Amino acid sequence: MRNRCATCERLLQHLNDRRFVTGTDLGKELKISRAAVHKHIESLKASGLPVDGISGRGYRLARGVVPMDEAAIRDRLDERSTDLVSKIIVECIVDSTSSRLLQLSASESIHGVVCITESQPAGRGRRGRHWIATPFTNLLMSVGWVYESWPRDITGLSVAVGISLIEAIRSLDIDGLGMKWPNDLVIDGKKTGGILIEVSGESTGRCTVVVGLGINVRMGGDDGRSIDQPWTDLETVRGQAVNRNELAAACLSALCRMLQAFPEAGFEPWRIKWADVDVLTGETVSITTHQNGVSTEGVVTGLDTTGALLVDVKGQGIRSLLSGEVSVRAR
Ligand code: BTN
Repeated sequence: MRNRCATCERLLQHLNDRRFVTGTDLGKELKISRAAVHKHIESLKASGLPVDGISGRGYRLARGVVPMDEAAIRDRLDERSTDLVSKIIVECIVDSTSSRLLQLSASESIHGVVCITESQPAGRGRRGRHWIATPFTNLLMSVGWVYESWPRDITGLSVAVGISLIEAIRSLDIDGLGMKWPNDLVIDGKKTGGILIEVSGESTGRCTVVVGLGINVRMGGDDGRSIDQPWTDLETVRGQAVNRNELAAACLSALCRMLQAFPEAGFEPWRIKWADVDVLTGETVSITTHQNGVSTEGVVTGLDTTGALLVDVKGQGIRSLLSGEVSVRAR
């Protein structure tokens, strides 16, 4: 499912959560009939927009809903990243922002291309899981990047992405985030965000990376009930509203800077920073191998120079685990 309706996007720019705007006024602004306004509002509602329509007063967004906006994100990018972002696609509804970039990469370069959506009915998590996010109140973003040859430390990329994101979020005075290797952003052991990295290309040639990022900003209770692990969201932890455009810009700036520097800098600068975000070292974990589903227990001792997790397994010594091969669960 995909919806790129320019009228809906313009309508969103004229709706807000503070006052009602009448269908007639919206029609005048957009040069369309009141009936057409109604039709487009219904289509936005179908993609999950929480909007009140009251006869005689018009339309108003639910409290605290501020739509994602390309210009607002661009304005907030840091100076060093502005030129690194080639295109920002903001949609109301897309099956999956990462799938969208992967499809696009079949016909054009997705280097520096960003896809953000308000609603993602087929959002993908790691290992084929579904990523659940209440529409219009969370951050769902993917960033495409193309390397002319494979960066030597590509196995450490997900840790570098996670640290960059946590630093960016901390810079907005949102504290408490840590990283559970290899791809979870957590607060007090509760999942707050997830990273999905997909890499494709010939082993000796060009390599295309899609970094998908889902951050719980404000989850609705009903959606939260379907999540099968402890979770939280940034607004609950912070106790106040989070500006999603500011959050997107901070994350995007940090990601682009990191992705740009990664081939030359490698994983080492990120390995050094790992201790600032790591929530697993010293913990007893259960490790499940994807290939055969076998589980073992061990104590996490750190990361190696490639970003693999080091776990001390009784009777086996230190094992080094690659992110694509295992799931790790704190005991
Ligand atoms: C995980 O924790 O399993 C990773 C979740 C990644 C979710 C994001 S949301 C934006 C992007 N598009 C997707 O379909 N998935 C990622």
